[in-house]
Amino acid sequence: MAHVKLDLSGLTSSAIGEHGVSTAALDALSDRALAAVDRTVELRSAGTVGFLDAPDDSAAVRGALDFAAGLPDDVDTVVVLGIGGSSLGPHAVYKALARPYDQVRERGPGMPRRVFFPDNPDPQSFAALLETIDPRRTVFNVVTKSGGTAETAAQLLVVHDYLRKHLGDDAVAKHLIATTDPENGALRRLANQHGFQTFPIPANIGGRFSVLTSVGLVPAAAAGIDVVGLMDGARNMRDRVLERDLYKNPALLLASLLYLHHTELARPIHVMMPYVDALYELGHWFRQLWAESLGKQHDIDGKEIFVGPTPVAARGATDQHSQLQLYAGGPADKVFLFLTADERGPELTIPPGALSEAPEYGYLAGRGMGELLDAELRGTVASLQGRQRPTALVSFERVDAAAVGEFFMLFAAATAFAGPLYGVNPYDQPGVEEAKRLAYAGLGREGYDEDAKILAAAPASDPRFVL
Ligand code: PA5
Repeated sequence: MAHVKLDLSGLTSSAIGEHGVSTAALDALSDRALAAVDRTVELRSAGTVGFLDAPDDSAAVRGALDFAAGLPDDVDTVVVLGIGGSSLGPHAVYKALARPYDQVRERGPGMPRRVFFPDNPDPQSFAALLETIDPRRTVFNVVTKSGGTAETAAQLLVVHDYLRKHLGDDAVAKHLIATTDPENGALRRLANQHGFQTFPIPANIGGRFSVLTSVGLVPAAAAGIDVVGLMDGARNMRDRVLERDLYKNPALLLASLLYLHHTELARPIHVMMPYVDALYELGHWFRQLWAESLGKQHDIDGKEIFVGPTPVAARGATDQHSQLQLYAGGPADKVFLFLTADERGPELTIPPGALSEAPEYGYLAGRGMGELLDAELRGTVASLQGRQRPTALVSFERVDAAAVGEFFMLFAAATAFAGPLYGVNPYDQPGVEEAKRLAYAGLGREGYDEDAKILAAAPASDPRFVL
């Protein structure tokens, strides 16, 4: 049974006439769309693409659960040191499914730990985090597939020194674990040398596709999240996204509609807007996945094409008071994916008797705050549809592990299928790699002379425009 329902009709001509995608256009794309599924399945069979098999990795689940069960009772904090796909996925899982740490009543063996995702190596915020936590009660999980990313390496080096100073050399390996490539990279080598506990990221699963590997599972298990349910949900969706029928395969239909909106209807901006705070980080996870996988200079044959949609992460109702004016009245270059939950969890009822001297607020009396958010969502969709703007609704039955697992698999598969539709390789990220090399060159790292030349060739500021 599906725990996430997709209503894509608002993207089609049945809802918004000529502004939507017609069944004729979908039918015309059908062969190419099915070829995208076939290509993904081929890459899976060849062992090149692994994300579809991640939910079957019972060793990864066991490893994460054992790690959580083995955490000393006095450890109450886990800090994930990683960036990009090594942080956004686990952060999204945590935000969606972890109970707020302050509300965790049971302390002691097996208690859920709070998890931090500092992500950016900003000196002020990173130093502030290190001051806030107690090193004796913290485990740092260094997550990097390549083992070489500068931001993560910098955090690791600072933390290693911090642990030595606070706890002494012998204690470091008890407070540092590593999630990385099974064989390669500097972190794997260091972990072997220093005896850090390690968790493997399968070689055929790249950063932004890795949320259902140890990358997402280890922090989730530490937070007491139902990682088995997460994988069950993903497996359930995996069966659906392998259907060779455009109208039955949710990931393929989603990818095809977004692709056609972009290429045929001039809508390159794809907004994901959850109306449930717990789902907000899913929007950031999607933003990276969609942008980094599909935004490419070259097609698969090496021809320059400069292609790719621009994903935007927004939040309802907050961004109704920030972005919606543009969405409704500005250029018709956007597609809107709204996320909601049928069951929101405990409602917060607005007390009927509160401030009754203000009759203007009377319409809110006795209503729930979740009810208000639902009304805001309905209003936003109606307003956009009334202007023939394309909208889709992704409804979680409730925000639980099964539904979140389904969501990850749905969008990972949609991205994998969108790659061949756009004619690009969705699994590489040459632009990101170039930025990594330029950062190394900027810090004078040996072996990056060509990149240092690019840095040196950057045009100097024109004094007329420096004010
Ligand atoms: O999706 C990707 O491949 C990237 O965003 C990486 O996740 C990011 O650059 C971090 O890389 P690594 O995990 O090697 O440190």
